Amino acid sequence: MKKFSIVIAGGGSTFTPGIVLMLLDNLERFPIRQIKFYDNLDERQKHIADACRIIIKESAPDIHFLSTTDPKEAFTDVDFVMAHIRVGLYAMREKDEKIPLNYGVLGQETCGPGGISYGMRSIGGVLELIDYMEQYSPNAWMLNYSNPAAIVAEATRKLRPNSKIINICDMPVGIEERMAKAIGLSSRKEMVVRYYGLNHFGWWTDIRDLEGNDLMPQIKAHVGKHGYSLKEEMEESQHTDASWMDTFSKAKDLYAVDPDTLPNTYLKYYLYPQEAVEHANPEYTRANEVMDGREKHVFGECDKIVANGTAKGSSLEIDEHASYIVDLARAIAYNTHERMLLIVENKGAIVNFDETAMVEVPCIVGVNGPEPLVQGTIPRFQKGMMEQQVAVEKLVVEAWAEGSYQKLWQALTLSKTVPNAGVAKELLDALIEANKGFWPELS
Ligand code: NAD
Ligand code: G6P
Ligand code: MN
Repeated sequence: MKKFSIVIAGGGSTFTPGIVLMLLDNLERFPIRQIKFYDNLDERQKHIADACRIIIKESAPDIHFLSTTDPKEAFTDVDFVMAHIRVGLYAMREKDEKIPLNYGVLGQETCGPGGISYGMRSIGGVLELIDYMEQYSPNAWMLNYSNPAAIVAEATRKLRPNSKIINICDMPVGIEERMAKAIGLSSRKEMVVRYYGLNHFGWWTDIRDLEGNDLMPQIKAHVGKHGYSLKEEMEESQHTDASWMDTFSKAKDLYAVDPDTLPNTYLKYYLYPQEAVEHANPEYTRANEVMDGREKHVFGECDKIVANGTAKGSSLEIDEHASYIVDLARAIAYNTHERMLLIVENKGAIVNFDETAMVEVPCIVGVNGPEPLVQGTIPRFQKGMMEQQVAVEKLVVEAWAEGSYQKLWQALTLSKTVPNAGVAKELLDALIEANKGFWPELS
């Protein structure tokens, strides 16, 4: 059986150890001969790589491991690029979240002005990874979950139309796990779903068990009362911080707006942006929570492994819910035709929506990549919201490609989270200042 070679781009990510542990746990399904780490920040990657070298040696000594900042070494002889980079690191995430709050506007990593700001930084970084992959391993596939996935996906569609990149998100997977638990199923794999939207902006329309029985009434009954909160919170979830608990329970109010469908949690930032502002502490946002929480924990544990010379006793956990990445790699490698939610060009999957929009819909995945499944015609409410949001995303990519101040101002003005063009302009000028060296020059 063929064994695969993988490069993890963004080797220094807080998610890397959990993903490595997940890959090691899945070797029977997805055999690996080589794991490489690539990052453009040697210092940061080294902490994670030194620990992962020990983890791999202890559990799968046959796997060749290397960690590098040299693109040629990283991208040569690989079958899959698993990409999760964060251009500008948490320091810039913190600014994305705090600057809008100064103007009374939502400050969020991927939604509203914060997401636009992050998108303007990410596009160049992800395009660079694609170019390295195409130069050094032209047959490889990139499975990308670098955020903001909606804007990154639109940029790759427009600027690298023939590239073998698939953009994915773990939020629907995470919510589906919660739905399954809420109604007493053992896993989301016991459900077949219909869903449509943009990334971090979508709705479930139909959920059935494997025999075809409708599960929507049961799930709706739970969501109507508790949102996606569960009595017993799942242990492995990365999403157990208080801010995530609020997000899961808020789904109740999102559901109330359209009880025909079940909402993605991220819609709270578009349907209740003022509430998000009121609940935010402008001195201490999610970026601070992550730096003080996940980042400290992961880097601390990695340093401990290195100091002890062994991973025994480490509290690093398998990122179980990231195993959908293995499902995706297997679908391509073994032509499994697994049904998965992915971010793909619409091309008619949502019948009454822009054909060139990057939408999130169920796809059948095989050796040629994803084949989107038609989700039909969508109602006016969702269509209206999605048209506004997709225009924001497309304007950001046009602004990046053309260096257009005007288009980025329009993008911010159009975002449902920004009250008017005047605030949008003030915000834009502050974000330009903060992103010097990361954004292209705008004129
Ligand atoms: P992190 O800052 O811990 O890690 C990101 C790493 O990327 C850093 O080590 C950084 O040095 C590296 N990097 C930055 N720019 C780079 C470039 N141009 N080339 C190579 N490496 C580069 O961040 P994190 O919180 O672990 O998140 C990583 C990414 O994964 C983020 O984009 C995050 O939004 C994304 N993410 C996405 C999903 C999803 O659903 N799609 C889920 C979880 C995380
Ligand atoms: C979910 C989303 C990701 C996002 C992450 C943020 O998993 O799908 O796109 O990156 O949440 O989590 P964090 O813990 O970094 O706030
Ligand atoms: Mn996501």
